[in-house]
Amino acid sequence: HDLGLVAVGFSGGQTKAGVDAAPMALIEAGLIQQLEEDLDFSVTYDGQVHSYTDIMPKEDPDYRNMKKPRAVSAVTRALSQQVYEHAKSGKFVLTLGGDHSIAIGTVSGTAKAARERLGKEIAVIWVDAHADINTPETSGSGNIHGMPVAFLTGLATEKDEDIFGWIQDDQRINVKKLVYIGLRDIDRGEKKILKEHGIKAFSMHDIDKHGIGRVMDMALGWIGSDTPIHLSFDVDAIDPMWAPSTGTPVRGGLTLREGDFIAECVAETGSLIALDLVEVNPSLDIKGASDTVRAGCSIVRCALGDTLL
Ligand code: ARG
Ligand code: MN
Ligand code: MN
Ligand code: MN
Repeated sequence: HDLGLVAVGFSGGQTKAGVDAAPMALIEAGLIQQLEEDLDFSVTYDGQVHSYTDIMPKEDPDYRNMKKPRAVSAVTRALSQQVYEHAKSGKFVLTLGGDHSIAIGTVSGTAKAARERLGKEIAVIWVDAHADINTPETSGSGNIHGMPVAFLTGLATEKDEDIFGWIQDDQRINVKKLVYIGLRDIDRGEKKILKEHGIKAFSMHDIDKHGIGRVMDMALGWIGSDTPIHLSFDVDAIDPMWAPSTGTPVRGGLTLREGDFIAECVAETGSLIALDLVEVNPSLDIKGASDTVRAGCSIVRCALGDTLL
């Protein structure tokens, strides 16, 4: 029951300040204590919220329509190594973001470790209102938090080592082992990518139609047993009624219980090896910040096996 915790205070994948304060807010809400005392985890944590100031580029002009490409690349490269080391030593890896661009670091780290340790390709469950699979060319915003899946799957590549050229094949994931849950705001170019590559996606429409129980059966059935799972959970998947403090809220989302239920179902597989919780921004919708932080803590506990009875 060993867990490696990485706290990432990074907001450079999008333009709103404050998402870097999320790890501290989650920790101050008692998250580590809950993991240790209630769930019996032995937590390895270096006691710091990383902001990677020492590796920030001095100049970082837009490149291929990407905003802050060198900063995001440098941070995710360092994070990838941190996550890899925890996962390589057999620990469950919990990463608290930060915006969703950090998943370039987390998923690449676990993908490589799982290949080396278990000889397996990981599956990724991406719970989000958004697909985050824009390429630099399809993105309307240029914000890299809308692109991590494109870089992780190899749909977007770049030669320059300082702009994601560091990502190697053994750090990438297979589009067939990617499953989305909660989608409701997909850009045109993203829709095309999802269709062309036959990527499995359960939108809010699918959840309304089948119910979250059947959707989870189908999602986990698609992945199959015996596959290590990385769960990347964007808090904006939850409806703004319960999680308003996030940079790109979209109405019509998951209920608080549906969010927890997804995490519980993934925990039940016994195959979960890593979890990201991202996009909590306590400085947006301040009256809803404590609700959003509580929703985040709850998702983490559920994914780590907290059961109701
Ligand atoms: N699709 C939009 C974009 O590419 C929004 C992305 C939102 N991503 C997120 N991680 N909240 O800019
Ligand atoms: Mn999102
Ligand atoms: Mn949109
Ligand atoms: Mn996201």
